[in-house]
Formats: sequence, C-alpha cells, structure tokens
Amino acid sequence: MTIADAIDTALLEARELTVGYGAVPVVHDVNLTVAAGEVVALLGVNGAGKTTTVRALAGDLKPMGGEVRLHGQRVTGPLHQRAKHGLRYISEERSVFMGLSTADNLRLGGAVRHRCLELFPELEPLLGRKAALLSGGEQQMLTLARALSVDPKVLIADELSLGLAPLVLERLLLAVRAAADRGGAVLLVEQNVRDALEVADRAYVLSHGQIVLEGEARDLRGRIDEIERTYLAGSELVTAR
Ligand SMILES: Nc1ncnc2c1ncn2[C@@H]1O[C@H](COP(=O)(O)OP(=O)(O)OP(=O)(O)O)[C@@H](O)[C@H]1O
Ligand SMILES: [Mg+2]
Repeated sequence: MTIADAIDTALLEARELTVGYGAVPVVHDVNLTVAAGEVVALLGVNGAGKTTTVRALAGDLKPMGGEVRLHGQRVTGPLHQRAKHGLRYISEERSVFMGLSTADNLRLGGAVRHRCLELFPELEPLLGRKAALLSGGEQQMLTLARALSVDPKVLIADELSLGLAPLVLERLLLAVRAAADRGGAVLLVEQNVRDALEVADRAYVLSHGQIVLEGEARDLRGRIDEIERTYLAGSELVTAR
C-alpha cells in the first residue's frame, strides 16, 4: 500500500495534532494515518512524545490543536466512547487486574474468552492463577489477548516490548501482525526499531514531538542508521536540557 492509498482509507488519523500537559504542548502538528490491514510503527527515543501522541489518539488526553479521526469522522470523546467504535488501546502500564485470576481478567472489558485462548493457548494452563503471579510476558499476553479477542477495528499498542525476552516479544508482534492481516488497523509504539520494522508496513519517527521521518517499512529497514541518528539527536538535546 502506498502512503497516498493509506490516507484514502485511514481508519485512524491524526491531523495537525498538537497535544501536551497543562499549557505546554509536547507534540506538535503530527499528521499520521493507519489504514485497515496495516501495522504502522511509531518510533522515537525516550521522551520523543510517542505516548503523548497515542494517548490523544485513544481519547485519554485532549488535543490542544488539530484533530483525531476514527473511520473518517472527527472524534472528541473519551476512550470508552472510542471503544464503541472498535478502538482498543494497550497503554504503557499493563492493564492487568493483579488481584484477579487470569480467567477473571479474561471476563473483563468485553473480552471473548474462547478467542483469547485460541490466540494465546499459552494462557490455558494459567487460567486459575492470580494475574499478579504471572510473568511480565504472560501478563502482556493476557492484555493483548483481551484486546485482540474482539477483533478490534483499530488497535493502539504502546510499548508491548517493555522488559520482555526477544522470543516473547516476537510472539506478541506476530499476533499483532495477524490482527492486521484480518483487517484491523494497528498503531504500534516501539523503541526497538528493528523488531518494529520487521512486522510493520509503514513507520513514523518522532523526535521532540515532531515527525522527522516517515515511510514504508521495507525502505526504512535499509535506513536504520538514519533512524538511530534521530534518536541520538533526541537524547543529546534531552541531556543538554
Ligand atoms: N503527565 C505528564 N506531565 C507532564 N509532562 C509529561 C507527562 N508525561 C510525559 N510528559 C513529558 O512529555 C514528553 C513526551 O513524553 P512521552 O511519554 O510522550 O514520550 P515517549 O516517546 O512515550 O517516551 P518513552 O519512550 O520513554 O515512553 C516528555 O518530555 C515527558 O517528560
Ligand atoms: Mg512512552
């Protein structure tokens, strides 16, 4: 799919999105699109503004300027309203209820239990276990299973990779890829450029709250040095502050 095609069929879109905290914008004039069937990676160094951007897309932070569109319609409501339009958001904090069992966690938020177990059979032997006693990878699998079990039209996942072993991450990224291949639109926030570009169709690179590079993943795979240079520029400036 070309970038022009993606704009035509975007399920999720940011137009000139400016967002921040209090009166201070940290993300400026971001334009991005995610179409049905696509995995789009949002890359960038720590503090670049990835989470801030996706929180605004999910309805968790109010934009200061610009707009968010879902299925081509401008949306301004909170996350639970966007969920009714088929959006699922996996935030940086794993949204696992630690005091509940795996089975009970799979009953929450409209998850479809048999689909969760189809997608992640690894969860079956863990159903009776308290979520607090699952490994980080298992908790993340539980979170992703819940989100994917409803075949979300749009999935936004913020840093699935945090603290996970490479094999577990690969398992999760392949599940995300499969969700897009079933027709979902996936926006994947990642710091790990190589892993993200393995599964993504396109990517955007954020630096200091602005998109500094964007393109098709197959082209960007040959430009990882260039992407990492934007990371270095980011961290130098952060250190100099
Ligand atoms: N709740 C907050 N209040 C004020 N400033 C914040 C808040 N959350 C983030 N920021 C600031 O906004 C900027 C962007 O942060 P953000 O969390 O979006 O970055 P990120 O790209 O997701 O980084 P990371 O890779 O570390 O998750 C940073 O300078 C950060 O300090
Ligand atoms: Mg973040």
